[in-house]
Amino acid sequence: MSHLQLIRPEPATGATPARRRKISLDKVAVDFTTRGKTFRAVDDVTIEVPEMQFLALVGPSGCGKSTVLNMVAGLLAPSEGSVTYDGAPVEAANTRVGYMTQKDTLLPWRSVADNIGIAFELRCRKANAAERRERVAEMIDLVGLKGFERHFPAELSGGMRKRAALARMLIYEPETLLLDEPFAALDAQLRILMQQELLRLVERRQMTVILVTHDLEEAVLMADRVMVFTSGPGRIRTERDIPFERPRNAMELRFRPEFSAIHEELWSELKDEFAASVERERRAQ
Ligand SMILES: Nc1ncnc2c1ncn2[C@@H]1O[C@H](COP(=O)(O)OP(=O)(O)OP(=O)(O)O)[C@@H](O)[C@H]1O
Ligand SMILES: [Mg+2]
Repeated sequence: MSHLQLIRPEPATGATPARRRKISLDKVAVDFTTRGKTFRAVDDVTIEVPEMQFLALVGPSGCGKSTVLNMVAGLLAPSEGSVTYDGAPVEAANTRVGYMTQKDTLLPWRSVADNIGIAFELRCRKANAAERRERVAEMIDLVGLKGFERHFPAELSGGMRKRAALARMLIYEPETLLLDEPFAALDAQLRILMQQELLRLVERRQMTVILVTHDLEEAVLMADRVMVFTSGPGRIRTERDIPFERPRNAMELRFRPEFSAIHEELWSELKDEFAASVERERRAQ
């Protein structure tokens, strides 16, 4: 028997091996107490994110999306249920994830370049000044902030601040991204460009992502799976796999009929939750 015959051929089915579970929320509930009243913000949420999956969460304001990200980041413990990362319970700040919070947390007394550079130093303490300059410039270029390196956060527009925060997070090269409305303050054209850039990066680095967005179109364009939350307490109303190929061209995808069909299907679920949320707020007034 020749040596070659001992090598088993790849299975012809094209089946890919099952991916490891990266993030897991098991029957999670969160209660908050404000002004002496306790209320349930998130209820019975079970989510499993395999490594390299891009998951998008959509739902009306106040349904608990940021609360879910806070738990995965280890900033908040669930009142019931469990949250695990790579199979281990999340009990403290999760340093394996890059978290871009809804409100940017740039240091106001530092320039754009310094905000990003400090993050690089935290990750890579032995890096020299030249290396730092090079990596910071690369990130600034990536998010389109060339020319604004020496500006302070207060001198930037809302969209520019978001982009600086994105660059600061990406310089850590995290294996997982938690993104809370990362493009909310961007104008439509820039938003499309940034979506495409982020997709390229995530696909190249094989990152796992949870994206929170109000924009259903953005969720369908970017994600492998979309979850629609109920209006509060936040539960999962429905979830759907998004079958588009990767690498993905978000610019081209939005004109495809299959895209419109999925968008419409999910919108029919989401619009009821928006209506319920408006009604709830009206009653609370
Ligand atoms: N630390 C907290 N203390 C008390 N209540 C909180 C706290 N954080 C969130 N909440 C409440 O929990 C609910 C869910 O909040 P969360 O910020 O997760 O919503 P969201 O889905 O991210 O909303 P949005 O789309 O407006 O960002 C809201 O009713 C909010 O007021
Ligand atoms: Mg939020």
